[in-house]
Amino acid sequence: MTDTWQQAPVDEASRQGLHDRGLDYRTVAGDEVDGWLQSVARGFQDGERTAAHIAAGRDRNAGKRLTGVYDPAAPAAASAGPVATIASWIGDLTLPGETAVPACAISAVTVSPTHRRRGVARALLEGELRTAAAQGLPAAMLTVSESTLYGRYGFGVATESADLKIDTKRANWIGPRPEGRVDFVTRAHAKDLIARLHERTRREAPGEIALPPGHEDRFTGTAPDAHEGGDVRCVQYTDPSGAVRGVLAYRIRSHQDDFTKGTAVLSRLVADGADAYAALWRFVLELDLVGEVHADLAATDEPVLWMIDDRRAATVTVRDHQYVRILDIPAVLGSRRYDAPGAVLLDVEDPLDLAGGRFLLEVDADGRGAVSRAEGAAPAGVPHVRLGIAELSAACLGGVSLLTLSRAGRVQGADAAAARLLSWHVAPRLSIWY
Ligand SMILES: CC(C)(COP(=O)(O)OP(=O)(O)OC[C@H]1O[C@@H](n2cnc3c(N)ncnc32)[C@H](O)[C@@H]1OP(=O)(O)O)[C@@H](O)C(=O)NCCC(=O)NCCS
Repeated sequence: MTDTWQQAPVDEASRQGLHDRGLDYRTVAGDEVDGWLQSVARGFQDGERTAAHIAAGRDRNAGKRLTGVYDPAAPAAASAGPVATIASWIGDLTLPGETAVPACAISAVTVSPTHRRRGVARALLEGELRTAAAQGLPAAMLTVSESTLYGRYGFGVATESADLKIDTKRANWIGPRPEGRVDFVTRAHAKDLIARLHERTRREAPGEIALPPGHEDRFTGTAPDAHEGGDVRCVQYTDPSGAVRGVLAYRIRSHQDDFTKGTAVLSRLVADGADAYAALWRFVLELDLVGEVHADLAATDEPVLWMIDDRRAATVTVRDHQYVRILDIPAVLGSRRYDAPGAVLLDVEDPLDLAGGRFLLEVDADGRGAVSRAEGAAPAGVPHVRLGIAELSAACLGGVSLLTLSRAGRVQGADAAAARLLSWHVAPRLSIWY
């Protein structure tokens, strides 16, 4: 399916709309990729890419679908790259119940400051979503630079993340002290371990996705174009049976005035099991010459908060993180699992007309859902909920209660039974940014 996705033609409605404005919208391959990478860097206000950056960027993007918008009227002196970019690939989005659906992961959305606010991003986003729907992908997903951009296309915040700052001088360890050992390992070894353990554990929490191509290098500073990669230190946890079940990559930021108050910044901690989790968190919280541990992209309910004796040693900042956009309601709601049986009638409005309509979701005693198109009123005793596709997308992983959205005026007709049906006992999380 990846090949089909990479080669799918760009959406005709968006192509025509941009063409009418003198712009050329097309997929990008071959020699054009270098200019595309330069445009992405510029779009994110980054510096010009070196040859090493371009080579690494080419590798990282080899498995992705790249599209660009070119301006044929640009003067000869203008840089060669596109004036707008987008990348996408098929990721695997974990749903409640350790199941998953293929989803269109989107990144590298940029429009040159010379062409902004003329509807170019809208054409790209709508185009990519229509293509994904036409290819039968049940959902799309992205992480964002600004929260205000994607609701208009039907994306909702399905996964929040927590930034943890833990004052290690206050946080005495009261958690388990598992047997087994922690050892420093090379960054190259840790890179492979992160990929392997991420793959093994990513179905545990809704919201996690398969690692995007070339992504594991980001944590260990092992990419050929990495900046100060040698600062990253890596340890692994081996259980008493000899199985390696956890890995931690971090770097130390020294304190300007006090050598005993460095900051350990986690780039990745992956634990396959509670013992690996406790061993690695204890290791980093008890490092000498460290006064603070920072971990971003943590779950909103990290067990480590219950493993320190002074809860106020930890400052937790919760943010919106992954946005999901359902493209096929029966496929998504029919694939996830549920904590309790029940039924709900959903009236879903979709501003892009891709997935909306009236659906009856029925969950059996085993927590399996079946979704059928519906007409007419709700069956007796079944709540009738009216909401937008962005709100349903936000709630589909169980990260926000329909009652909360109801109190916010974003959902109508939800009662406790409807809210219970869509909830889930594991908080969604996504431990990467893409
Ligand atoms: C964000 C960005 C892609 C928008 O591109 P653009 O072509 O100017 O956007 P459009 O003109 O198509 O605008 C589409 C809609 O988004 C809104 N919008 C665009 N940028 C916005 C912003 N920064 N904040 C809030 N709304 C924004 C527009 O008002 C418009 O709304 P409407 O269609 O509902 O009326 C562009 O400004 C950019 O490249 N920014 C820097 C890189 C970045 O942050 N990319 C996003 C990565 S997640």
